[in-house]
This record gives sequence, structure tokens and C-alpha cells, in this order.
Amino acid sequence: SQDILQDTFERKHSYLRISLTEKCNLRCTYCMPEAGIPLTPMRHLMNSEELYTIAKTFVDLGVNKIRLTGGEPLVRKDFKDILHQLSTLPVTLSITTNGVLIDKYIKDLQQANMQNITISLDSLKQEKFKQITRRDEFQKVKENIDLLLAYNFKVKINVVLIKGFNDDEIIDFINLTKNTPINVRFIEFMPFDGNQWNREKLVPHKQVLDIIYATYPLQVNKLTDAPNDTSKNYTITDFKGSFGLISSITNPFCDTCNRIRLTADGKIKNCLFSGDELSLLEPLRDGKNIVPIIKKAIANKKFARAGMDTPEKIDNPELHTANRSMISIGG
Ligand code: GTP
Ligand code: 5AD
Ligand code: SF4
Repeated sequence: SQDILQDTFERKHSYLRISLTEKCNLRCTYCMPEAGIPLTPMRHLMNSEELYTIAKTFVDLGVNKIRLTGGEPLVRKDFKDILHQLSTLPVTLSITTNGVLIDKYIKDLQQANMQNITISLDSLKQEKFKQITRRDEFQKVKENIDLLLAYNFKVKINVVLIKGFNDDEIIDFINLTKNTPINVRFIEFMPFDGNQWNREKLVPHKQVLDIIYATYPLQVNKLTDAPNDTSKNYTITDFKGSFGLISSITNPFCDTCNRIRLTADGKIKNCLFSGDELSLLEPLRDGKNIVPIIKKAIANKKFARAGMDTPEKIDNPELHTANRSMISIGG
């Protein structure tokens, strides 16, 4: 039955990203359209039991890694129930969060044996943080990162680079890895519905590396990456942490894609860029077997970026595949 999660390009899908909610306690400009998005009515979202049942179905088909995303996963009122139920599955559990509510759930995360906590943090300056997120939570996030380290969690920080805005902080982020075992990952800005992407705002992977080499000419060491890693990882000699580059635009990693997504409203999404979603929740509620639908979604998967596979297609919004706004995908 494990073959069901293998697509027509022989990629095996063992990593499920589940969006728990479309809501967020921050308002990042590049993630959410200015006016917000219409929220899906509660009754159309998976409740915690449905979420568990669907997740379990994927696990029975070969999924061994689950990452919780959002919106902001920790704003889900029943987060503890969800976490507790998912922790009984034989998977590596991870979460991508903005970090604001970590202190509230730190013990639960520990008990659930959460392996890898990724914090999205795009600036180390309080004012700039406020500008991006439209909320004044920088200190809280910083304290919560320290708290995670004190609890010995493996911490990654995701930095979406935007030219002329936070690319002056690359070395500050690198220096964070000097005395702390953090993995800082610089991400190329990607286009999603309503996020005002254009290529000029992109800081290509190669430029980031050039900046780092200019500061640490003889101390940049390549690390070995895991087979399905989204990032190319490096470390600076004698630094405790490491850094990574996620080059979704200039050097996509679709050939090794092992990811499938489940939206908060219970739809399977076979690619980050695919709007071609199939509902699993509705058939589940009708008492139907969802396995054939999962199989169909996997079989439909295109080789790269849901068909948005050339620079011309990426640059022209009219050629974009219909998709959601990032807030309801979860990255
Ligand atoms: P780990 O490998 O478990 O550390 O996590 P991850 O890199 O899969 O997940 P994370 O949520 O930290 O995402 C990091 C960045 O990679 C985000 O900007 C995501 O949007 C992007 N990303 C994650 N999965 C994919 C993918 O399948 N395709 C592309 N193009 N980008 C992805
Ligand atoms: N391009 C690249 N990464 C993005 N993220 C959110 N929006 C974008 C975008 N347009 C990141 C978030 C989070 C991860 C899941 O995706 O910062 O860390
Ligand atoms: Fe996989 Fe689509 Fe991401 Fe490429 S863009 S790595 S195919 S999810």
C-alpha cells in the first residue's frame, strides 16, 4: 500500500504538512493580503478527531514525518488535543510557528516529543519586526527562542529575505549561530496570491552566499544535507550553529520532493503551488473511503511547481496556477 504515495515521477511522499488553522496572531505583509482573507466557516474545518483520522490514513500509507503549520498553528484552541493525538502516531512531529505562543505550550511540546521547532523570524530589530508583522511581539519571540534552547529543542529559524528590507541583516543572523546551536535558513521569497511578489524583491541564494563568504572568506564549510532537505546547509568554522539556503526560485528542489499538504479545511494539496485540491473531509463525513482520493491527488502531481516551471511563468502573474494565499497554505 506504500506505493500509493508514489507519483508518476517515482517520488515517494513520506512527509505530510498539515495546516491547523487559517488564523494568525501576526499580520506579515508578505504572507497575508492587506485586507485579510475570508475565513472558512468553522463547520468546514477539520475538528481534532477528523484531523487525526486523516493523518492516521496517511501514516498507514507510509507517511513518517508530520509538520504542523498554519496560519499560526498555536492559535488553534484545541492545539493540545491535536498534539496529544498526533503524538501517538509513529512519525517525527515538527512544527513551524511564529514563536509568539511557545511559552504557553512548551511543556506540551516536550511531552509530545516534538523533534524540530522552526520559528519564522525575518528581522532581529524590534522596529523592523513590527513593520513586517504589524505587531509588537519581537521581545516575546526572542525570549521564546531562548526558552526552546534552554529546553534543548532543535531550533531552526526561517528568514524570508526581501531585497532592500532585511538583506542587510544576513550577517547578524549568521552571528546568531556563533554561540547557539541554531540552524538559520534564508529563504527565497516566493509568489503567492496577494503577496506582491516580483523578482526584484528576491535575494538569490548565490548572493546570500557571496555576502557570507565576503565576511568569513575561509570559514564557510558545506554540511551534508539529508536526502529530502529543502535547504543546502553550511556552518562557519567553530560556530555552534549552522545556516541553510532555501532556493525555491533560483534552484528548485522539486526532483526530490517528498511533500504533500493537508489544508485546515481538509483538502489534499499535491504541491505548494497547486490550486488543484481534492477534499478528503467531505467524503470522510459521508462515510467514504478517502484512500482512492489520496491516490488520485498523488497521481495528478506535476513534476515541478504545479506546472509553473519556467522563469517566464513565475514572472507573469497571468500564467500563475490558481492558488491560495500563503496564510492558508502554511508554506
Ligand atoms: P524541515 O526540512 O523539516 O526542517 O522543514 P521544511 O524546510 O520542510 O519546512 P518549513 O516549514 O521550515 O519551510 C521552509 C521553507 O521552505 C518555507 O518557505 C516553505 O514555504 C518552503 N517549502 C517547504 N516545503 C516546500 C516545497 O515542497 N516546495 C517549495 N518550493 N518550498 C517549500
Ligand atoms: N516565500 C517564501 N517563504 C515564505 N513563507 C511565508 N511566505 C513565504 C513566501 N512568500 C515562509 C514563512 C514560514 C514558512 C512556512 O514559509 O516564513 O517560515
Ligand atoms: Fe514539491 Fe511543488 Fe515544492 Fe516542487 S514546488 S518541491 S513539486 S511541493
